[in-house]
Amino acid sequence: MTGRVLFAVLAVLFSAATSQAQTSGQPAQTTGFVRLDRVTASRPLPNGLELRSGSAVVQITALRDDVVRMRVGPAGDLPEDASWAVLAAARTSSASVTPDSSDTSVGFHTAKLRVTVQKEPFALTVTDFDGHTLLTQLPSRPIEYNGASFRAYFRSPDDEHYFGLGDKPGPIDRRNESFTDWNTDAFGWQESTDPIYKSIPYFITFRRGVSAGVFLDNTWRASFDFNKEYRDAFSIGSEGGALDLYVLYGPSPQAVVRDWAWLTGKTPLPPLWSLGFQQSRYSYYPESEVRRIASRLRSEKIPADVLWLDIDYQLKNRPFTVDPERFPHFEQMIQDLKAEHFKTVVITDLHIADLPNSGYKPYDEGVAGDHFVKNPDGSTYVGIVWPGKAVFPDFTRKVSRDWWGTLYANFLQEGVAGFWNDMNEPAVFQVASKTMPDDVQHRIEEPGFKTRVASHLEVHNFFGMQNSRGTFEGLLRLLPNTRPFVMTRASYAGGQRYAATWTGDNSSTWNHLRQTVPQLLNLGLSGFSMSGADVGGFAGSPQPELLTRWLEVAAFQPIDRDHTAMGTYPQEPWENGTAEDLNLRRHYIEERYHLLPYLYTTAEEMSRTGSPIMRPLFLEYPDGAVDKQPLDLADSGAFLLGHDLLIAQSPFPDELDDYSVALPLGAWYDYWTGLEVATDTNRINVDNTQVRQPEVHIHPSLQTLPVFARAGAIIPEQPLVQSTDEKPQGPLTLRVYPPAVVGAPCSGSVYLDDGVTYDFQKGQFTRVAFTCTVTAGGLTVTIQPRQGSFTPWWSALAVQVYGASKPASAAASSALDGSAIRTLQTNYDAAQHSIAAIVPDDGKGLRVNFTY
Ligand code: NOJ
Repeated sequence: MTGRVLFAVLAVLFSAATSQAQTSGQPAQTTGFVRLDRVTASRPLPNGLELRSGSAVVQITALRDDVVRMRVGPAGDLPEDASWAVLAAARTSSASVTPDSSDTSVGFHTAKLRVTVQKEPFALTVTDFDGHTLLTQLPSRPIEYNGASFRAYFRSPDDEHYFGLGDKPGPIDRRNESFTDWNTDAFGWQESTDPIYKSIPYFITFRRGVSAGVFLDNTWRASFDFNKEYRDAFSIGSEGGALDLYVLYGPSPQAVVRDWAWLTGKTPLPPLWSLGFQQSRYSYYPESEVRRIASRLRSEKIPADVLWLDIDYQLKNRPFTVDPERFPHFEQMIQDLKAEHFKTVVITDLHIADLPNSGYKPYDEGVAGDHFVKNPDGSTYVGIVWPGKAVFPDFTRKVSRDWWGTLYANFLQEGVAGFWNDMNEPAVFQVASKTMPDDVQHRIEEPGFKTRVASHLEVHNFFGMQNSRGTFEGLLRLLPNTRPFVMTRASYAGGQRYAATWTGDNSSTWNHLRQTVPQLLNLGLSGFSMSGADVGGFAGSPQPELLTRWLEVAAFQPIDRDHTAMGTYPQEPWENGTAEDLNLRRHYIEERYHLLPYLYTTAEEMSRTGSPIMRPLFLEYPDGAVDKQPLDLADSGAFLLGHDLLIAQSPFPDELDDYSVALPLGAWYDYWTGLEVATDTNRINVDNTQVRQPEVHIHPSLQTLPVFARAGAIIPEQPLVQSTDEKPQGPLTLRVYPPAVVGAPCSGSVYLDDGVTYDFQKGQFTRVAFTCTVTAGGLTVTIQPRQGSFTPWWSALAVQVYGASKPASAAASSALDGSAIRTLQTNYDAAQHSIAAIVPDDGKGLRVNFTY
């Protein structure tokens, strides 16, 4: 017996002797040392393989041809098959496999993937049939358990990059960093702070255009190391719970994003108003101040949709109350704001004031229903938060979540449109841990789970997610045909099903403006597409140019909410700046409102496919870089809004130096001038062998945030409105950016519905697809017949073709039979380099021919 084998046998005996018997459904735990260093037995399953390694059992199954799951039970029993993140339908789906084995390995393959486990040392490898290794264990570091904690190591080629992991600050690429998942109230977090509010133990790998997703479904304090411990490895582990690992195959990054949405759910279609401009601060009060902000937004003609009420609207910070002195006519105020086309979002934190015998309904009902989290001795856990002593609903019980949801009835009746679930890490004051004690007891009483008591260590990271779930589901029960809007600070993987989010308490610094890009991109890749950062920064006060620039950049980010802390200077767009600042701020917010048809169409795509609204360049253009490295790596500051718009904010926004932006291969237009971008390279060299990356050089100015449109895009825009309630007056504009090459693809679409209800699910929407074709003498734009039964606000289209250097003529014909309709008047705009033609649109389809 070799030393190593002897050691393994001893380790197994030791672990078997000391492993805890599993109490009903508790995640598999050991108190000993277990190393999965070789396969000791194996048996094929119809959908995978079951292995033994000493005391441990390992099950590897195919959920689909391109999704594989590995579960490990170190003491011989598989962990409970339940998940807060993964949808039951996905978790229980299965694909049949073909077993493969040899003397040295066991495994199987599906139609898309091959899973191989080397017998000794034990090493799992997942590959595709094109020779790409998606995941492979480091053979020298087998999976090990030390008591309840475990760690697994995987090989990391030096040209592989990692994205995702939620809201964690720092560079977009997770390579060379390590992280911990432990939801934390992180006021004043900085670029190097970890952990902050959310735990999304999921990342996307990208290597030379090929991607896979890796998800550790584990709610305990988990950790990730990318190339720090070993240059050539990444590792994942946790202090407890199960090693339950999913591998999602692309090969394109967009396919991985879709897989993730299949596994953990999509962000639901948000109400249209939540894509408008939102104004907040900690806190607007009294009532007259809220009204002042509302009327100033209107009198300054700053388009806006939402006002937020932070904690000071409440009586003594007690959730679900209203301070009657500060807000004597709360309901009237909400109604008046509504009449001015403002939606109101109010904060409803989860810490219920500990107020026995005071007629405080959330407390009284919570006690009567036994809804609050308990100490190990059975007493109710009390922690200090905004209201002083507070108690916390046990959101891991369905009945408690359902009860929580009923607390929103009054606010809904009064006309409140959306809700803000803050502080739900959960944050607790006056304790070093900033949260509940580890041994607080949560009751898991949940369909699909074994009923049991769990410690806070297990529940902490998804507590906030279940809080937002209680809110979302409660609102749906109260108003079944209204799309809820919930904003949560803490969450776990899959939390995008219930709430939008933001990046918490950032700072009013240029570096935090810069951070919004990698942070929101990684959130989007992690499923949280409806995300924003406090515009202008939360802690501190921005200098005028910073506020201006921030409002410019945020106009192109998914959630555009200006918010700041207590005690800072006013931060509304008309504050803190010159008349020119105000004009610029207004101009960019107006541009967002012009772009709402495009933004909403992108949001609808998100709700159907999981594709984020704000996208890194490599997601849309995995082959867009000549060196096959992601274009986003250097934290260039560039990002995409949807498929077609590239926003190139400076990588060092506080500096005046010129900078260069690498554009994905292909032609691009300057969104502001309508001109095709002159890049410093002829994309294809004379010998046709080497292609150089197009780069555009930018001389920064506060007046212009560089925005580029993809050649081959058709982008829908609308006339200016002051809120999404207002019906746009005039035609829907189609901004057509012709492709550089005759016959190259060119397309776009628009989606529209009533913006608030679920009637779209019954067909009450409009969807129109557009294409364009460059011909020898001009350009043809085809507008397909409308789909869906919703009647849109427009009755004419303004087809605007960019990149034009001279006038052109245009004629419209029917898209159905080609019959001529009429010759169109065209308008050549030399400054915009565009030719526009307006054509009546009855929804039956059109073709517009431009002849140069
Ligand atoms: C913390 C949140 O992060 C912040 O946005 C909010 O203003 C304060 N809590 C007060 O509610």
